[in-house]
Amino acid sequence: MNASVAGQVRLYDRQPALADFRQTVLDGLSRRPRAIPPKFFYDAEGSRLFDAICECPEYYPTRTEKALLARHAEAIAERVGPACLLIEPGSGSSEKVRLLLDTLRPAAYLPMDISRHYLFETARNLGREYPWLAIHATCIDFTRPISLPFAPPNVRRVAFFPGSSIGNFDPDDARTFLRHLVKTVGPGGGLLIGVDCKKDRRRLETAYNDAAGITARFNLHLLERINAELDGDFDLDGFRHHAFYNAKAGRIEMHLVSRKAQTVHIGETRFDFAAEESIHTENSYKYHVAEFAALAQSAGFILQQVWQDDEGLFSLQYYEVES
Ligand code: AVI
Repeated sequence: MNASVAGQVRLYDRQPALADFRQTVLDGLSRRPRAIPPKFFYDAEGSRLFDAICECPEYYPTRTEKALLARHAEAIAERVGPACLLIEPGSGSSEKVRLLLDTLRPAAYLPMDISRHYLFETARNLGREYPWLAIHATCIDFTRPISLPFAPPNVRRVAFFPGSSIGNFDPDDARTFLRHLVKTVGPGGGLLIGVDCKKDRRRLETAYNDAAGITARFNLHLLERINAELDGDFDLDGFRHHAFYNAKAGRIEMHLVSRKAQTVHIGETRFDFAAEESIHTENSYKYHVAEFAALAQSAGFILQQVWQDDEGLFSLQYYEVES
């Protein structure tokens, strides 16, 4: 691991090798149904497109969660306590943590993201805005077990996992991920997590099919990345974005659907697509509060408090591990 330093900001690079991306894509496209995990959306352009989704009027989760954070910052700080080690897997633009930093006053902030350039730039900017804050930013695939780059003894650890990113794991993988977090924060540690709630189909499907087509561009960008980084020849016009609510599974599914029978190459490997055949690119599970609390409890977290908006669209939940 290499670490570079700028003021109170330290940067650690554990970015997965390109070979991981290639192997996962080749395996995922060879399987039926074809599927590529959503973590590969997030290079610099993918992160930028995701931020643009968060600004879309149809995409309610971001603004609802931000309003909850702003409104309940004091109560959250009271629950979490001062001077913790604040760990944020999948920190992206670190937009939401800004709503807590002044009230929470953590001893240090540890953002983690797979999108290196974006993470490091965000960490440097944050360091300029919060000169009192020690920042340790790690480029890492946080879906695997996390080892912290900075772990002072006797400092209480709290994970911050907003945005309902937990919904992008299948429930079994979500439990495994939460178990990793239990180990990471340790006895007496905390978890503040944002979870999108089950609601009517129309509201959900509109959020993943914005009128400006940004979610479609975000989804198709995966093919652009494969073309650029893995020597692929996907014709972007040959695929369309498809997102729908699978009520039985309790999840939004995103797919890229082939508009026609076509052949695609990635390096030397050939893939034949039938017309209407899809690549499953993302699941976004939605949970009732009690449903998610049971999942978190099965991983070792005990529910302390829930904050929800008046419409019950989104929930912020605070958990602790037994001391
Ligand atoms: C990052 N994640 C929680 C988003 C979601 O809602 O599942 C990603 C996203 N995909 C399409 N729109 C937003």
